[in-house]
Amino acid sequence: MSKGTFYITTPIYYPSDKLHIGHTYCTVATDAMARFKRMQGYDVMFLTGTDEHGQKIEEKAAARGMTPKQFVDEIIEGPGGILDLWKLMNISYDRFIRTTDDYHVAAVQRIFRKLYEKGEIYKGAYKGLYCTPCESFWTESQLVDGKCPDCGREVKYAEEEAYFFRLSNYTQKILDLYEKQPDFLEPASRMNEMVSNFLRPGLDDLCVSRTSFKWGIPVDFDPGHVVYVWVDALTNYITALGYENDRYNDYAKYWPADVHFVGKEIVRFHAIIWPAILMALGEPLPKKIFGHGWLLLDGGKMSKSKGNVVDPTVLAARYGVDALRYFLLRDFPFGSDGSFSNELLISRINTDLANDLGNLVSRTVSMVEKYFGGTLPADRQAGPEDAALTEAAAALRGEVEAEMERFAFQNALSLIFKVTSRANKYIDETSPWVLVKDEANKARLAAVMYNLLETIRICTVLLQPFMPQTCAEIFRQIGAGESLRTWDSIAAFGALPADVTVQKGPAIFPRIDMAKELAELEKLTQNN
Ligand code: ME8
Repeated sequence: MSKGTFYITTPIYYPSDKLHIGHTYCTVATDAMARFKRMQGYDVMFLTGTDEHGQKIEEKAAARGMTPKQFVDEIIEGPGGILDLWKLMNISYDRFIRTTDDYHVAAVQRIFRKLYEKGEIYKGAYKGLYCTPCESFWTESQLVDGKCPDCGREVKYAEEEAYFFRLSNYTQKILDLYEKQPDFLEPASRMNEMVSNFLRPGLDDLCVSRTSFKWGIPVDFDPGHVVYVWVDALTNYITALGYENDRYNDYAKYWPADVHFVGKEIVRFHAIIWPAILMALGEPLPKKIFGHGWLLLDGGKMSKSKGNVVDPTVLAARYGVDALRYFLLRDFPFGSDGSFSNELLISRINTDLANDLGNLVSRTVSMVEKYFGGTLPADRQAGPEDAALTEAAAALRGEVEAEMERFAFQNALSLIFKVTSRANKYIDETSPWVLVKDEANKARLAAVMYNLLETIRICTVLLQPFMPQTCAEIFRQIGAGESLRTWDSIAAFGALPADVTVQKGPAIFPRIDMAKELAELEKLTQNN
């Protein structure tokens, strides 16, 4: 039975270049969350997609001698493109929206018209400072050292006839929203930023159409104007469910979204402009916006335009998709920035995956094969060392759930690995290699093996959202079939059948020689 619906989204990505590990970070986090909720029994809608309009794409396409549509098609659907990357990374999205899809285009036109007819949008003239790469207008006071506060590049003066959204009417309404619903935007520090940087000074009306370029959704009642790319982009979250279109029909079922995951630099759009648009439309607001941090490289933001890109395809090929997924969510607290480095990645793989989890699985399965020919006898005898392990394993589901509810992936994983370490310690405490020497200890030895296998099973069920492929292999090795991989199966300790049969397999995470690997990476970078 479904526990209810859960609608989660990633930002829709600009197909202006290949995606890098920073983009992969948010998508992997969303995927882990979506898988976790599905496992718990929720009817999940996981939406991702691409944000394809705007001047930046128009200019890039022109530089390559292509139409904008040809250009984005190649980046999205071409070999090694965005769809391939998500397939490689095992991203289990339920729906993929492209803002060039006909149904979205028509829906945005209807939304724009609706807002105009309601008087929420009016025609005026825009005079201001514009950052082309970020497609954002800024006021003088928002600039940092006279440059774009987001990317640090030059802004230029722009003036054009334009439509405006009455965002200034919403300052107090958004402040009230934050007050009534203090968890609307998390982490809390992001809410403070919105209040002091944008809301306290008061919001200006927002320019929502452009005439200076063509690659956008035309305002159907005023030729020459295209809809501002952020209005086009933000509404994807509802058009993808069928709002103002017939392509889909599950708006009533999934809206409002449970959470929009977004990077910190686009929190302003999601936590101020998006709720204001929805209020103007008279639609419900998303339940939560979560603004995650950036993965930094050499102290700066990774970006395609800065060129210092870390390619997820290369990393996944060298270390495996699951190791990469694990590392991204284990090493960095989701709400804060984190510094990416190859040393961190390799050392995390070696410590947690090869030594801790990998060793635990391979030692346990080997011992069951060696001591019992692969199948445990049903007779088991409890011992004084058991409670500490079995109680920790039994409590794990609830503890991990609490961390996942807060999107604290790092804490959730660290709790699981505390239990795998505990299990390794249990092996030392019980010394199976001593027990095996005396036939009288057979039932005790069987209990030790059982407790280890069951602990591995519980940890593996909880690791599935993070490392789906690896977990399937661990389940195979410890003899846990489909019904033993579920959320319900770990409600208590002991669902694994007493006479379980294991099957040894290859090491799930081979250890990496750090010095050798770093030298090879260095060579790879130089050859680039
Ligand atoms: O902003 N670390 O698209 P985008 C972490 N189209 N996250 C990063 C990152 C990094 N180094 N680099 C980028 C857009 N991101 C809009 C969204 S939504 C209606 C429209 C994240 O392709 C970034 O923070 O530039 C953002 O959340 C996402 O990737 C998409 O960035």
